[in-house]
Amino acid sequence: MLKGRKMILVTGGAGFIGSHTVELLLKEGFEVVILDNLRTGTIDNIPKSTKVKFIKGDIRDEELVKRIMREVEGVIHLATIVSVDEFNYYQKLLIFPY
Ligand SMILES: NC(=O)c1ccc[n+]([C@@H]2O[C@H](COP(=O)([O-])OP(=O)(O)OC[C@H]3O[C@@H](n4cnc5c(N)ncnc54)[C@H](O)[C@@H]3O)[C@@H](O)[C@H]2O)c1
Repeated sequence: MLKGRKMILVTGGAGFIGSHTVELLLKEGFEVVILDNLRTGTIDNIPKSTKVKFIKGDIRDEELVKRIMREVEGVIHLATIVSVDEFNYYQKLLIFPY
């Protein structure tokens, strides 16, 4: 893995896998920006470190994502709908919106 002061965006970084990923990145010497809307993740999952910046927001916010992308060297994308029931619910809304 690359060493140095590189900054990585972790979407879903307040979630289960995301927060462990953030821990690993910090151990490897990276700084991290987390973008998470806290739908299922929590602030408590986020490692307390001056090398971590948390932004509460949605990955569907294009302008926000563009702004963050200008500051980072890489992205690990883990923000997601994990629950199958919830996914099916939203999928139905898209297919049969009315
Ligand atoms: N948990 C596991 O055992 C496991 C195993 C293998 C793979 N995975 C995969 O890892 C990924 C993450 O899973 P997880 O278990 O950490 O889930 P999680 O629910 O703990 O984390 C998902 C995070 O994404 C955030 N999020 C959801 N929608 C968002 C949005 N629109 N904008 C911003 N943030 C948003 C949630 O608030 C949450 O913090 C998934 O793709 C999952 O399939 C998980």
